[in-house]
Amino acid sequence: MKICRRDALKGFAVGAGGILLGKPFDLLEAIAAEGYSRREYNRVLLTTENKEPFKTSEIKKNENYIFFYPYHNIPVLLLNLNETIEPLKVESETGQFYIHPGGVGANKSIAAYVAICTHEFVRPNPSETLIKYYPPGETSFIYGGDNVICCCAHGSAYNPSAGGKVMQIPAEYPLTAVELEWDFNSDSLYAKALIGRNPPFKEIFKEDGEGKLVTENTPVKKLNDYTKKIVRC
Ligand code: FES
Repeated sequence: MKICRRDALKGFAVGAGGILLGKPFDLLEAIAAEGYSRREYNRVLLTTENKEPFKTSEIKKNENYIFFYPYHNIPVLLLNLNETIEPLKVESETGQFYIHPGGVGANKSIAAYVAICTHEFVRPNPSETLIKYYPPGETSFIYGGDNVICCCAHGSAYNPSAGGKVMQIPAEYPLTAVELEWDFNSDSLYAKALIGRNPPFKEIFKEDGEGKLVTENTPVKKLNDYTKKIVRC
């Protein structure tokens, strides 16, 4: 989806905690690029299961959290990495690119990605999960390293510190990022848009339909509280 210049600037400002980050040159490049994509949905508060705001201070480093956004059946991985995630250009195998706005929170280390593998759309479900984040110290043997999101279905790997870009095929497209807004005063988080370029996802989102959009809040839980079995690879 193409966006106008004003929408792009708004998105960048929010993703960067109210300050326009990123190099102006890259921003202009991104706006001009055919593949740039930011789709705005409802601004939704992330909560605990008791519907209290889920504070960024509660997000443990290296833990896999899950919530659903922008539809009730679209799972999203919420991660607090060990490093600041800077805004950066994300390129797909097909050469198109867009700008990931970087991390949010006090250390700009919190990011969220749609947990649907862009290869054949494997996603977590309550019985079993094949896609997860491998934090530092937990090596994915199929990838041969850590600090990576891997899908055990066929071995695709993505870099959560670099906008979800593909580190290992067969996936062609980066993970779609969820744009987060951090409220400094309340320490709460909102999800408000998807950022990425992943043409096949249009079909998934179309199937889900308007009626199932998440509207006001979405509960966050640990991945291992959501799913019975996490497959590691
Ligand atoms: S579905 Fe994930 S690697 Fe194939």
